[in-house]
Amino acid sequence: THRTRLMAGNWKMNKVPSEARAFTRQLLGRLEAAGRPEGVEVLLCPPFPALTAVHEEIVASGAGDWVQLGAQNLYFETHGAFTGEVAGPMLADAGCRYVIVGHSERRHLFGESDETVARKVKAAFSAGLVPILCVGETIDQRRQGQTEAVIRRQLEVALEGLDEAAVAGMVIAYEPVWAIGTGENATPEEAHRVIQQVIRQRVRELTGQAAAERVRIQYGGSVNATNIADFMALDGIDGALVGGASLKVDSFTAIVAAGR
Ligand code: G3H
Repeated sequence: THRTRLMAGNWKMNKVPSEARAFTRQLLGRLEAAGRPEGVEVLLCPPFPALTAVHEEIVASGAGDWVQLGAQNLYFETHGAFTGEVAGPMLADAGCRYVIVGHSERRHLFGESDETVARKVKAAFSAGLVPILCVGETIDQRRQGQTEAVIRRQLEVALEGLDEAAVAGMVIAYEPVWAIGTGENATPEEAHRVIQQVIRQRVRELTGQAAAERVRIQYGGSVNATNIADFMALDGIDGALVGGASLKVDSFTAIVAAGR
């Protein structure tokens, strides 16, 4: 494939800064010893307080050309009286290149609507960050046969007003909510079908063929060192957004290696 695969670790609310630093040092040592897999980019998304420590380790390692830093969320305003929120320019200045937007935990546990997610996508671009837009259906929506309609709607709202260059440069993660942290992954064939026939097709309709060809679309949901190869074997799945298995050096190293 002509798209650089993005193997991303979403640490969620895990690791204090000192643990994050020690983990990153160990992980980067292993990744560098193995060498950069061809056509693969690695992304680490620690919690906000650990961003600086992880960034320092990435810079010190010399792997900064293929290992990137990302945040798990942002607010859509740039600054001001928004106690407890974190703005895009703060993340960019802290060394982030990417930011996850609209993760299902943000949508379902913290009430983020499609409209909020759309504002965050635009805020990410404004700050010079690459948004990783998460989409996916819940188990109820899936049982009711609404998977396609839900994802089409999520994309329509989130991509509204974005030009072709923006969409081409962003990342979309297909994360079926029922597969997150459950140990029950979507089958690779199922993920491939949704990614190619629903998500990439919807991008084609909304933004055009060029953007659909270039946008990277990851799979996420109970990815591990064992099942990753089956996902990566399918053309059109441009990497993975990994939760639990990104917290251990061994499993994440294996997942990165499978990206080639
Ligand atoms: O962002 C990551 C996803 O929510 C997947 O999490 O790999 O623990 O299922 P998981």
